[in-house]
Amino acid sequence: MRVTVIGTGHVGLVTCATLAELGHRVVGTDSNPERIDLLRRGAAPFFEPGLESLVSKGIDTGGLSFTSDSAEAVRDAEVIFICVGTPPRASGEASLVAVEKAAAQAAAHATPPCVVVEKSTVPAGTAVRVGRTLRRVRPDDGHDLEVVSNPEFLREGKAVRDSLEPDRVLVGAESPRAFATMRRLYSPLIDKGCTWIETDIATAELAKHACNAFLALKISYANALARLCERSGADVVAVANVMGADARIGPHFLGAGLGYGGYCFPKDLQAFERLASRLGYDFPLLKEIARINDEAVEAAADKIIDALWNLEDKRIALLGLSFKPGTDDVRFAPSLALARRLAEEGAAVVGYDPHAQAEAKAEMPELEIAPDPYEAATGSDCLVLCSEWEQFRSLDLARIKGLMNYPVLVDGRNFFDPQEMRAAGFTYYPTGRPRVD
Ligand code: UDX
Repeated sequence: MRVTVIGTGHVGLVTCATLAELGHRVVGTDSNPERIDLLRRGAAPFFEPGLESLVSKGIDTGGLSFTSDSAEAVRDAEVIFICVGTPPRASGEASLVAVEKAAAQAAAHATPPCVVVEKSTVPAGTAVRVGRTLRRVRPDDGHDLEVVSNPEFLREGKAVRDSLEPDRVLVGAESPRAFATMRRLYSPLIDKGCTWIETDIATAELAKHACNAFLALKISYANALARLCERSGADVVAVANVMGADARIGPHFLGAGLGYGGYCFPKDLQAFERLASRLGYDFPLLKEIARINDEAVEAAADKIIDALWNLEDKRIALLGLSFKPGTDDVRFAPSLALARRLAEEGAAVVGYDPHAQAEAKAEMPELEIAPDPYEAATGSDCLVLCSEWEQFRSLDLARIKGLMNYPVLVDGRNFFDPQEMRAAGFTYYPTGRPRVD
């Protein structure tokens, strides 16, 4: 099928590359011409495992192309994806300016009949607005431009796999023709047995909020339990194991630590909360999830202060700066929230990350960046594990200990084994588990 994707960020570019891989002819377009130049050369503008090779492959086989000319991009499309950014406004609501612009572009230049798919993370109700925009721009044949909601459930760092082997594909639409188009588009996945869910548009939009908020709720629940475990001497990892063994609860997203970050959970939760209040429903649970998440960073800062007393003239090293391993994304990263908090207390903060060094520096210029974990540890008074990159498993702990002023390790992801930390001679502060001296 002929597919156009407007917006080549994390969601858009993965959509381009994976739909080309499924055999469609995909054109990606973006308002940033430098990004388009980069993509034409087969380079990905951000780190996402497996993405760059899929983009190059798509270009080489002719299934994938990029253009800055959005009019040309949408002209022949049977399906147009809107994958533009929806950054948070000061109020917490998502800004939908780019979505409206993309819908207007699609409407102005598309050749109906065609389907306009909303895939950006948007608040429920956006599809109605997109539909109105299509009909405003094309008063005569706007009804042949149908709106579909096809929320993404991609995890950064696993986005290619999540797209090619998804748990489910959710499509919200109003007409049999729109559903048929989307079934045709995703037939290679449906044929492989992927769960296919069709709903009305409002349900699809709300389901996306419901999933993200529930995952964030699980994490915050685990973090609240961690605070209780720290006060009672219990072990939150063992508690989560017990909970996870119950099939009704499930073992995933019960990892206590520094909490969630990234561009989805924090802003989606805020947008969901704003949406609920606009609909006249008080949903304080959503605010509480975010409050407990902020508390997780504060709890880590408290441990560091407990270990080091005054932070002035102390040097603290952070390992892992991206909001989670497998990505160079530092947006809403708990590591940087912690770095700012520690800097406020007067500490000198140095960080190391396998992929997100430049991104972290751009976000927080006062953060010192070390070229490797050992340089970061050199002369530091405390080491904090902020995101659990697999390569940290092979750290030479004896060397790290020798380089530090004091061997204090705060584990913001319960990544290390407490017994190994004891054997290595660290004062070890895990999250929600007993301290090891
Ligand atoms: C998320 C959703 O998983 C995805 O379905 C949606 O489409 C976009 O948002 P992503 O933001 O890439 O994906 O990250 P995810 O892997 O879900 O992790 C989110 C955050 O939660 C990370 O900061 C991670 O470190 C944290 N997390 C995750 C925990 O703190 N504990 C856990 O047990 C799991």
